[in-house]
Amino acid sequence: MNRDWIIDTPNKVGQTVEIKGWVQSRRDHGKLIFIDVRDRSGIIQAVFWGGNSDLFEQATSLRSEFVVSLKGKIQSRGEKQINSDLPTGTVELAVEELEILNESETPVFEIEKASEINEEMRMQYRYLDMRSERMRNNIEKRHQIAKLIRDELDEQKFWEIETPYLTKGTPEGAREFIVPARLQPGKFFVLPQSPQQFKQLLMVGGVERYFQLARCFRDEDTRGDRQAEFTQVDMEMSFVEQEDILQLNEALLIKIVKTLYPEKRIQQVPFPRISYADAMEKYGKDSPDIREDKNDKNLLAFCWIVDFPMFEKTDNGGWTFTHNPFSTVIPEHRQWLSEKKNIDQITAAQYDIVLNGYEIGGGSIRNHRPADLRSVLEIMGHSSEKINSDFGHMLRAFKFGAPPHGGIAWGLERLVMLLQNEPSIRDVMAFPKTGDSRDILMEAPSVLSDKAIKDAGIKL
Ligand code: AMO
Repeated sequence: MNRDWIIDTPNKVGQTVEIKGWVQSRRDHGKLIFIDVRDRSGIIQAVFWGGNSDLFEQATSLRSEFVVSLKGKIQSRGEKQINSDLPTGTVELAVEELEILNESETPVFEIEKASEINEEMRMQYRYLDMRSERMRNNIEKRHQIAKLIRDELDEQKFWEIETPYLTKGTPEGAREFIVPARLQPGKFFVLPQSPQQFKQLLMVGGVERYFQLARCFRDEDTRGDRQAEFTQVDMEMSFVEQEDILQLNEALLIKIVKTLYPEKRIQQVPFPRISYADAMEKYGKDSPDIREDKNDKNLLAFCWIVDFPMFEKTDNGGWTFTHNPFSTVIPEHRQWLSEKKNIDQITAAQYDIVLNGYEIGGGSIRNHRPADLRSVLEIMGHSSEKINSDFGHMLRAFKFGAPPHGGIAWGLERLVMLLQNEPSIRDVMAFPKTGDSRDILMEAPSVLSDKAIKDAGIKL
């Protein structure tokens, strides 16, 4: 790995360096050729003099996006040549050796102008789009946020545990992707819409503090803040109350902003807490944008929404949960839950975290007592047969000393999108899907061979 990062070159004046990267542009000035070379860390100007005719000749063949290795000396630029737009604008590389590591076809768009072209094109050629400063920056920041979360939660004694992708459906509201089980013809796995049930089972298993940067799958129509496949910062804790979870998450969000976005200002700390009823009355939505100045791109207005109703009426006059059936109710309303009365007034021990008008996370304290979970499902009109087939495994687990527990999950892309001032979560994902859930780079979904379909036990 004998290479120097471009961003470090201003500190290496007078030294010989070896730069590897892509040619961004070439400018010929008679006896001088300038190229801008880009690696992941930045861009530097490299200079070839006509004096060395072989090298000069080689430089004339360079084209945009050729991959090169350059050896030479870093030298200061003259006062008048300084480019204050570039972090390396005070220096340049006087090239002594050039090796062309690979050639490139003329790129379908100029990397620096990627933001101006249509998004389908950017997605089809994501590997080119990703070379742009904007996308590199988004991808790097996402990595830094994820790393900070991991380090911080590790510090707080959380364990990172991976839960299965091939699993059983959870009635959490979204439509699920199904996967045929070849070895059990006629049966299907589903991809998890969240690790909800597994993280609760980890609590029954005595793990006490779990987190995961969990991939979730929901077969829904996508839009700017929604993808069929996305990542949750998912956590669950035993022996906690709502207050503990809110405080831990608030501190973590503040730390992310202070460490990685020092230029941003959080409007109010502690984050204001707004009841669901007040949010609906005052803002007409449960993810209000409470920014004082909506044009200030460095303003972050977090708030908690609390005191959600546990149930809401369905179109056919029954009841359903507002978040998921695993949430418990506030202690004062447990009696109502077990007696199945005042259903419309039962308040869930549930909370959402909202940032600048987007719901970036949600969670609850759970029903760790099997009877309470059963009551929720009965109020929703589930027959005991259905309860046993859909939730039997959870009810059974809860009978074996389930500790009180609760948790939350953030939508990682939504958070990164807002912190990066991007208009869509697609811009903070390396390989997003289109609005109608196609991957136009890989051309997925695709037609399968008759044999593959037959092997999967499917009849079309
Ligand atoms: P919920 O369904 O509210 O809760 O999801 C948590 C957070 O995930 C993000 N999110 C999405 N992001 C991108 N694309 C999507 N399609 C998408 N759907 C959701 C949102 C949301 O706030 N198991 C519970 C959490 C818990 O109770 O602990 C759950 O999944 O930012």
